[in-house]
Amino acid sequence: MGSIHDWKPELYDQKLGFVSDYGKDVLRLLQPQPGEMILDLGCGTGDLSFEIQNSGARVLGMDYSPAMIEQGRRKYPSLDFIVGNAADFSLDQSMDAVFSNAALHWIKDAEAVAACVWRALRPGGRFVAEFGGRGNVDTIIQSTCKVLSEHYGIDGEQRNPWFFPSIGEYSSLLEAQGFRVTYAVHFDRPTPLEDGENGLFHWLSGLGADEFFQDLSDTNRARAFQQICNAARAKLYQDNVWFADYKRIRVVAFK
Ligand code: BEZ
Repeated sequence: MGSIHDWKPELYDQKLGFVSDYGKDVLRLLQPQPGEMILDLGCGTGDLSFEIQNSGARVLGMDYSPAMIEQGRRKYPSLDFIVGNAADFSLDQSMDAVFSNAALHWIKDAEAVAACVWRALRPGGRFVAEFGGRGNVDTIIQSTCKVLSEHYGIDGEQRNPWFFPSIGEYSSLLEAQGFRVTYAVHFDRPTPLEDGENGLFHWLSGLGADEFFQDLSDTNRARAFQQICNAARAKLYQDNVWFADYKRIRVVAFK
């Protein structure tokens, strides 16, 4: 959400199913109740929106990517979806809860997101979110920056599209907006990638960050991906499986 990233919904569903699978843990934190109205912010292709609806709540799925929303509407015709920017939206109806999984690290203007979420909630409503925390995919970022600098004369740090806050930073930001933060954790989740030897290469080409590689030719891009894999291998590859060095934060906050 909120970035120029060119999402590929089919690839997201086929290769990145773990995103929604892990999100089921966050649903337990949300505890959707029958009859509640819940916004799923950065809903992707709607898998978790559908789970929320199955609990008896009503759901609105919002994503910045029209391609993801189109795919969501195809998969779940009974759900309501809209294309929207998490840092710049307003709704006609107040929400009992705003839920977000694996989306908010794409938006650097986190204050604007907090303001929009606050506006969307009824008084007493809750915000339940999980996304990348401080140090998320650090080995992948460091390997990417090293390869871009050494082989292509590019300063990768300038292109880093992500916002990975600590829980102190993020809780303070929510409190500044007026939220009461009741739960915040920051934990490691080394995540096995599909496709054996090609796992990290596919992560980089599918979900990774186009922003880092935007002006490389297809040939140089593929070469850079391989060089990044070589640089990261010692830390992230074990017994024919690549592990992304994910670190998540989870928060619950009330209006
Ligand atoms: C994440 O879910 O942590 C993530 C996904 C894509 C790029 C960077 C981080």
